[in-house]
Amino acid sequence: MPALTDVQTRPHPTEAATERRLAPDDLVVTKTDLRGHITYANETFLRVSGASETEVAGRAHNLIRHPDMPGGVFRLMWDTLGAGEEIFAYVLNRAIDGPFYWVLAHVTPTRDRSGAVVAYHSTRRAPSRDAIPPVRDLYARMRELERGRPRREGAEASLAWLTEHLDSQGLSYEEWLWSLEGDL
Ligand SMILES: Cc1cc2nc3c(=O)[nH]c(=O)nc-3n(C[C@H](O)[C@H](O)[C@H](O)COP(=O)(O)O)c2cc1C
Repeated sequence: MPALTDVQTRPHPTEAATERRLAPDDLVVTKTDLRGHITYANETFLRVSGASETEVAGRAHNLIRHPDMPGGVFRLMWDTLGAGEEIFAYVLNRAIDGPFYWVLAHVTPTRDRSGAVVAYHSTRRAPSRDAIPPVRDLYARMRELERGRPRREGAEASLAWLTEHLDSQGLSYEEWLWSLEGDL
């Protein structure tokens, strides 16, 4: 196992943490097994995440989890994948070498010939810059709801709040996302 800073023991990023912006044509790709362990990463992922191939191979994808990301969003992601569906989501990541970066992720199940889900695939691109402040705001409110609660319970509570909050505007998460991208 390559030497890597433990995600759990890394300090919380300070205000001084810098942003690494994706170029408009960057496509950040990874594939995982059913547990979310990385089986493939493209060159763009390695560059943006500040990692080498040996550092990421076989590692859990939470390797680049940013502590400001609400568990409720990952709960939505795994629930959707578990239902055999694809999902688009805004994700804030933290590169191994420090900077944070925002992505608009598309995550899909990969099926074998019999239709069984055997793996997952994610392609990410730069989100609209205008989307970031409202996403940051909503995710901060979710994190607030998760604070002090056991992980699972917190994620369920914040996802329930998010669903209700968007529902009151007549939007699903995906519709909200495309409205922020200017595509709806
Ligand atoms: C294909 C795929 C791609 C993923 N990409 C990311 C990612 O870029 N960043 C991230 O934090 N989690 C990603 N995840 C989710 C992680 O597996 C994990 O659920 C998340 O980081 C929360 O980790 P934790 O619950 O252990 O804290 C991905 C999962 C899959 C299946």
